[in-house]
Amino acid sequence: ALPQAAQLLDLARAAVRRAGELARTMRADGVAGVSTKSTATDVVTAADRAVERQVIEELRARRPHDAVVGEESGAIEGGGRVRWILDPIDGTVNYLYGIPAYAVSLAAEVDGVVVAGVVRNPVTGDEWTAIRGGGAYRDGRRLAGSQVTELSQALVGTGFGYDAARRAHQAGVLARLLPRVRDIRRIGAASIDLCLAAEGVLDAVYEKGLNVWDYAAGALVAEEAGLRVTGLAGAPAGSDMVIAAPAALYQPLHDLLVELDAAGGP
Ligand code: IPD
Repeated sequence: ALPQAAQLLDLARAAVRRAGELARTMRADGVAGVSTKSTATDVVTAADRAVERQVIEELRARRPHDAVVGEESGAIEGGGRVRWILDPIDGTVNYLYGIPAYAVSLAAEVDGVVVAGVVRNPVTGDEWTAIRGGGAYRDGRRLAGSQVTELSQALVGTGFGYDAARRAHQAGVLARLLPRVRDIRRIGAASIDLCLAAEGVLDAVYEKGLNVWDYAAGALVAEEAGLRVTGLAGAPAGSDMVIAAPAALYQPLHDLLVELDAAGGP
């Protein structure tokens, strides 16, 4: 593990803890400034924006030469080797409805490789962290994924994009996947899905069309817990597909997703 990664993780954890407090406080006062983005289902609140602003200010105050990419503000140029990847509130719809499953997700990249990540649910206080080469942890406990080996016994997490045509395709895939697995969970925050798979609470997860801020930190947590995290058919994990599964489940789930053309469609 890079020595710098530990320092970046410390900084990330402090920023994410304060960010979570802000998100919770703002929700206690009622959700304000709700508007829609790409589609009517894609919401953003004043809290998403305020949390993002606070985290970016904090990071840039400590490390002014780092680049940042955030869900709400897009890309901020750096000049150094480090780039932060931030989702201020992953699970905005849960946040809006008061469902206690949302997270602040922050990852640090050095030279284009994610080396540290933290995902924190400020409602439950659950915090998952990872350093590349240094393992994944929750509350000091090292994570190792699920022991399940049969897809038919796997509880699989997934999620849906905001575009109607994409959703229709995703629903079609789901209709054919559901009879082949134990059950499906749509928790509503991709970062939490990945961390739950790292813990072995979910046996595996997949989702098409994620943005890098949805999965950067959670994917490192899953990888460091020993899961395989990729796209489909040799593609790297990314917008076409993120699949995260322990070794025994990976191939059957991957092959089924290929058969169902899960990365296809809009
Ligand atoms: C969304 C959540 C959701 C996933 C969507 C994401 P947001 O992120 O992670 O679980 O299914 O694809 O866009 O918009 O709440 O930050």
